[in-house]
Amino acid sequence: MKTIVPALAALLLAVTALVAQAHGNVTPQAVDTQDLPKLKGPLTVNPYRDNKKAITIGAAAYGQNCARCHGLGAVSGGIAPDLRNLPVGDDGDEYFQMRIRNGSIRNGVTYMPPFGEIFSEEAIWSIRAYLDSVHQD
Ligand code: HEC
Repeated sequence: MKTIVPALAALLLAVTALVAQAHGNVTPQAVDTQDLPKLKGPLTVNPYRDNKKAITIGAAAYGQNCARCHGLGAVSGGIAPDLRNLPVGDDGDEYFQMRIRNGSIRNGVTYMPPFGEIFSEEAIWSIRAYLDSVHQD
């Protein structure tokens, strides 16, 4: 018992750390968009479509804020929809911005938190530019 108890305690700690990591940081992370053209929103069509700098910034913003639910590289692990399947083009843009701003709250249950108050217009559209770049039919 003498050696097993500390070993178990260490194991439990390691597992807890892993679980915490898998869930990622719950605090929304700021997105540095100063290198992108300034936007005046709310827009419903992506002004950064195919903009390489926006895609790079959006990839980082996605990794910090969305991947914990939607999966690394937008490959869903099944917790939340696979965002590679979002429609491309203007219709997809409109749906995307509505979702990211409002999140998804149904019957008082928050399935996805709203990001409208947290992200700048530039951050929102850089994430959309990134998701377009990994789109799959
Ligand atoms: C806490 C987990 C969580 C986080 C964090 C999260 N989402 Fe979601 N998201 C969900 C869930 C769950 C759904 C499905 C909601 C539903 O069924 O109503 C969803 C739905 C969506 C949809 C609609 C997908 C579809 O196919 O209809 C989009 C777009 C989306 N999320 C984008 C994002 C983006 C971009 C981020 C990061 C800024 C993000 N989400 C962060 C959980 C999350």
